[in-house]
Amino acid sequence: MESSHEQIIAWLHDAHAMERNVEHVLGWHLKEAQNYPAVREQLEKHLAETREHARRIGAALEALGAHASVAKDLAAGAFGALQGMSTGIFRDEPVKNALAEYAMEHLEIATYSALIAAAEGAGFVDLSHTCSDILREETAMALWLEDRIPQITREYLERVPNAG
Ligand SMILES: [Fe+2]
Repeated sequence: MESSHEQIIAWLHDAHAMERNVEHVLGWHLKEAQNYPAVREQLEKHLAETREHARRIGAALEALGAHASVAKDLAAGAFGALQGMSTGIFRDEPVKNALAEYAMEHLEIATYSALIAAAEGAGFVDLSHTCSDILREETAMALWLEDRIPQITREYLERVPNAG
């Protein structure tokens, strides 16, 4: 049976892979949000935060005597289903992307909530603080999306006649 230390390292690998996936997805969404300046601005901000999350989780792995692995990141592929959402004949990326981002942020929120509990249980104070910092930024992004999705949807629908 794995020790809690080994289990925490495994979850940190998962979190690192998740952040790298989010980084890629946000990069694609940024390109598709060119006509939505407020969305672009927020995506750019959260993309920078996401890169920092991956860096901090990598550093946390090093501190526990492990290191982030590209192979494990690629194998994880947590967001394949979200990435594959079809846009069909409608160019509704701004809406679909916001929905996918909202789902991604909530997986991140759940992940860091679990990691904080595990870190606290193991007495890893620094790791608990790192995960709490990251959790605050994921929660802020999720709240921004929750607040903004109705407006993104209205803006998209107003543009539908010109979108085809
Ligand atoms: Fe993140």
